[in-house]
Amino acid sequence: MTHTVKPLVAGNWKMNGVRSSLAEFANITSGVSSALASKVDTMICPPATLTYLFAVGAVGTSIAVGAQDCHTADKGAHTGDLSAGMLADAGATAIIVGHSERRADHGETDAVVNSKAKAAWASNTIAVICVGETEAERKAGKAVEIVAGQLAESVPDGADAQNTVIAYEPVWAIGTGLTPTPADVAEIHTAIRSKLVDRFGDAGNKMRILYGGSVKPSNAAELMAVENVNGALVGGASLKAEDFLGILKAYA
Ligand code: 13P
Repeated sequence: MTHTVKPLVAGNWKMNGVRSSLAEFANITSGVSSALASKVDTMICPPATLTYLFAVGAVGTSIAVGAQDCHTADKGAHTGDLSAGMLADAGATAIIVGHSERRADHGETDAVVNSKAKAAWASNTIAVICVGETEAERKAGKAVEIVAGQLAESVPDGADAQNTVIAYEPVWAIGTGLTPTPADVAEIHTAIRSKLVDRFGDAGNKMRILYGGSVKPSNAAELMAVENVNGALVGGASLKAEDFLGILKAYA
């Protein structure tokens, strides 16, 4: 195991949560002890309507607040969109870019994801750049090739351990209850690590590579113990404090 990198467990709330969800968020913040916070970084990415409310709620706690997407531009005539600068202004310290649901629902290409990552950096937020193969791609034996291609195109030059987190999220494992075997996770994460080191040198060794897709309290310890897994990006199980804190126990 190479846990020289401080892990990060981030919750992606997707399109879930209203103002009253602040109570559940408070259950999360109060559940993370300083002892736990010394071992693992934690973050919740609520929908943008809640960024500011949660950021205020997180003051004085060890939980960061992130966002789920941003526009490539800093401002302008883009009805309904939000810039990285606006999200940072609302209290987000990181922005997920290139989630497979954005790639699928909004046709986001690697080039768009690359621009969004740079937009996140320009607003001094961390880009959490997502990659992952579909079920058909895995069945065709192309998982490593697809992920390597997404990584090459979606991660901008200049990425380092301070400004970038990589999240490997196999599309077929998201929201399905299915997970790859630890050996399959190890294969992809090791491939990602070697690509990052090839391209970014030592910075590539320090970048966090999260696993995402049906992470829950019952499988977190096994998945988080895999070599080159530096934390998790959690969807459904991040909505309930009990489940999210149960996942964090993998690092207790
Ligand atoms: P689930 O944990 O619900 O499978 O979602 C994973 C995910 O997409 C996180 O970004």
